[in-house]
Amino acid sequence: MEKMIVQGGRSLQGVNKISREKNSALPIMATSLLPSEGKTELQNVPRVSDVDTIAEILRKLGLRVELSGGRALIGNGFFESHMVPLVESKKMRASSLLAGPLLAKFGRVMMTEPGGCVIGNRPIDMHLEALKGLGAKVEKVDNQYFRIEASFLKGNRIHLLFPSVGVTENLLMASCLARGHTIIENAAREPEIVDLANFLIAMGAKIKGHGSSVVRIDGVKGLESVKYSIIPDRIETGTYIVAAAITHGDVLLRDADLEILQTEVSKLLEAGCEIRRCDEGVRVASRRVFSPANIVTEVYPGFSTDMQPIMTTLCSIADGQSRIKETIFERRFNNVPELRKMGAEISILDDTLAIKGVKRLNGAEVEALDIRSGASLLLAGLIAEGETSISGVDKIYRGYEDPVLKLKNVGAELHSLDQ
Ligand code: EPU
Repeated sequence: MEKMIVQGGRSLQGVNKISREKNSALPIMATSLLPSEGKTELQNVPRVSDVDTIAEILRKLGLRVELSGGRALIGNGFFESHMVPLVESKKMRASSLLAGPLLAKFGRVMMTEPGGCVIGNRPIDMHLEALKGLGAKVEKVDNQYFRIEASFLKGNRIHLLFPSVGVTENLLMASCLARGHTIIENAAREPEIVDLANFLIAMGAKIKGHGSSVVRIDGVKGLESVKYSIIPDRIETGTYIVAAAITHGDVLLRDADLEILQTEVSKLLEAGCEIRRCDEGVRVASRRVFSPANIVTEVYPGFSTDMQPIMTTLCSIADGQSRIKETIFERRFNNVPELRKMGAEISILDDTLAIKGVKRLNGAEVEALDIRSGASLLLAGLIAEGETSISGVDKIYRGYEDPVLKLKNVGAELHSLDQ
């Protein structure tokens, strides 16, 4: 079991290169099974463990997948497995994103409830309903698997009760090869949806309206393998903006894109972060005591739920009382008991955090229980007095590429420790 040991109190200075979006890479890699020949080439794929997991799923389905030097090569030759492997399925929520492409390719899928971050009840009911809307039949087998089948998929008008990111992605991937046209109403609008749609369009799909609440897909007969580059990771960008600001540092974030992080950036500016675009990327600094924040998480373009634990760390040292309401997931406060061990004063009132800023945090032994709560603790370790030891860091590696190296390169004092 690996730990991260962080000595707090170093001001971050230098250049940090932002990686590409994990939550785009995962559906895009799943979609790469659709063309019947050639090789999909994805550039700048982040080396995070969730990417390794989806690569392993594709291999177990029978595809050839090479990951090296930030490039993924996915061979689209013949394969016939439609069974999403159990072990990998339980490692991450994104395994559910194989349902759409496998159904489009073979007309059948066997899958289980996916695993992933424990941040509330995360059913797949809307995924199944959406696929039924395209003509699929769903049956539970052995109390463990879902058998999803359709002799052919037929386009339909599908209204989502909630603009789910994963459901919108599954529908995009399944309907692009369906007969006729599909309209997704109340679709998710996240940048990852737009990235996936652009990838599908590059392969020959006919999609309009992606990035808005109504998306229209006209089914096509086949898709071609292409070369594609994934967008920058907005949550990693937000995480490293906070890292630079709370350590009163001065860091250039190369390849960051603030256009897809506007709501979060406006809250960070209000709190006292200095964030400026420049020729080489985004420059972040801060000399001030932070102001408290009032935040409600919402679907895009609202304040992202993934940035909520990150913002909680900043608010824990702000000058006053902050309030953060979480509306997307039921229990996304895994970082709170751990931050309290470090001296943070945070109470949980149902879905809302009341955070009374303190002057300093202290190093402690804490545990990362999911990706973003782990990042929240890593940030807290950077500013705490003394040493912070973080266990469960495999959760952080699921979503952040080389965090130890990246932070060391800008002057943080931390290392990983195998036990
Ligand atoms: N929901 C249902 N039924 C469903 C699907 C979703 O009730 O069938 C509920 C969920 O339980 C949740 C809400 O709808 O309360 C939103 O879930 P959504 O489907 O939008 O999220 P997701 O697709 O499971 C993706 C990201 C998450 C990110 C959310 C929200 C991936 C692989 N994951 O999850 O990322 O928080 O969208 O933006 O894209 C992370 O990166 O740390 C992470 C958790």
